[in-house]
This record gives sequence, C-alpha cells and structure tokens, in this order.
Amino acid sequence: MAVRTVVIPAAGMGTRFLPATRVTPKELLPIYDTPAIQFVIDEATAAGIERVIIVTSRSKPSIEAYASSASTANVAVSVVYQDSPLGLGHAISCARNAVGQEPFAVMLPDEIMGDSSLMKSLIALYDRTGTSSIGLKKVPMSEVSSYGNVEIAGRTDVSPSESAVAINRVIEKPKPSEAVSDLVIIGRYVLTPNVFDHLATIKPSLNGEFQLTDALALLANENQLVGIVSDITRYDTGTPMGLLRAVIEIALGRNDIGPQLNSWLKEKFNK
Ligand code: G1P
Repeated sequence: MAVRTVVIPAAGMGTRFLPATRVTPKELLPIYDTPAIQFVIDEATAAGIERVIIVTSRSKPSIEAYASSASTANVAVSVVYQDSPLGLGHAISCARNAVGQEPFAVMLPDEIMGDSSLMKSLIALYDRTGTSSIGLKKVPMSEVSSYGNVEIAGRTDVSPSESAVAINRVIEKPKPSEAVSDLVIIGRYVLTPNVFDHLATIKPSLNGEFQLTDALALLANENQLVGIVSDITRYDTGTPMGLLRAVIEIALGRNDIGPQLNSWLKEKFNK
C-alpha cells in the first residue's frame, strides 16, 4: 500500500527556547521567513505525501491555526491532540485513528533536512520490502548517547550517499558503555500500521516516557525493521544554536537573501 500519510509530533513545550516559546510554539519559529514546520511539510510533499497529521497540544492553538492555513491542492494538513506529555511513542499512538490501517511516515520537526532525498529513499525501501524503514546517520561515538542507536546485520549501497541495512537491535539513548554501533536514528521513519499494536504494549522507559524506539525494538526482534544510512545535510533545530545555524545556512543558500547575507558576513569578519 502506498505511503501517503505523515505524522508530525509537535506537542512539546519548547522550554529550550523560552521566552520565544511563551506564546509561539517552537515549530512556528522562523527559519528566516518560513516557520520551521513548513520545511517538514514541504519535504513530505516533495516525497509524495498527501496527508499531514500534526500531533499537538491544546495549549498550542496556533499550531492548529497554522495547520488550517497550510493545506494546498497537493496536501491536506490536520491536527490531533496529545493531552499529556507522555513521550514520542505516546504522541504517535495519538494519531492511530487518524492514520488508519496503512503505512505512514513519521517526521520529527526538530530536524530539518537539506532535501527530500532520505524521505524518498525510505518510502522506496518500504515499497520494495514492505518493512518499516528508518533514517540513520553515522555520528562520532561520543554523540551516540543522545539518540536511538542501532545494531545492523547486512549493508547494501543504494547510491553514493546511502546504504540500506537490516536492523537487529535498537536502544534508546544508550550509556556510552552500552552503545552498539556509531549509527543513530535521525527523525525520519516509514512505519507499518502494526507499530500501533506494539506502541500499545510497551511500558514507559527512559525518562518515564513511552519511547517510539521501544516499539521499533519489537519490530527489530521480529526482523521487521530496515534502515537507510544517509549522509544527508541535517539541521538539528531542537536547540537554539542548531536553529541559528539552520537560519544562517538556509538563508545563505537562497537566491534572494543569500548573496546579501554572504557579503555582510564577509565584511563583518574581515574587519
Ligand atoms: C528522538 C528519538 C531518538 C532519535 C531522535 C532523533 O529523541 O527518541 O531515538 O534518535 O529523536 O532526533 P529526542 O531527540 O526527541 O529526544
């Protein structure tokens, strides 16, 4: 069945960005002139997604207002609510009825990708294998404990910048001594609908939250999890420094503002 739906979890309180997030959700903070979440919606649409379901909190009404203005001829954007902050796994399970019995993507809006290539490759890998497929990246071992970490079985190069892998084991944010590789989960997933059954069986774990990674671990146990290791450009907009870097790099790449910003930066640093 074609992947036509994406779930975007956007219920977090954005405390790292206070006071900016007192009234503006972090997903609506601008990357120059465009709210961060719009980059994720555009990436999804470029990968062929037609239906965007944003999981949000009732304390963030502007997300719903933004969603109702974000639908186009190509994509329908709607919201569902997560009433308590019980973790990423719980947020995804809040979209169960809205998604229905079909494969779906999950895209974390704290990460902005340089293009839609990874999302397209994950959908293509799902189309080939019928198996849940997740985005992976190689990072220095010192960074592994900030992410979901995977142990892989086989590896096949699918392009100069990507390889497809089978995943044996998944651990959420392992202690450095428990890391199983230098490959981590980045925020792009294509999941089969049985993940909702797994999400319904897992218990709260790290930080007392329902972790999506624990449901992925159940898929890995059943040999039902594959991934794409990608060296895609990725901006971590979940931290103020990451957001600033995204604003500068994305603005530098634009035809309208890029040349002006570039010459201002040169002038500033050549003084
Ligand atoms: C979440 C996931 C983690 C993944 C990460 C990617 O963690 O739980 O497995 O590696 O996103 O950004 P979070 O960053 O929300 O703590």
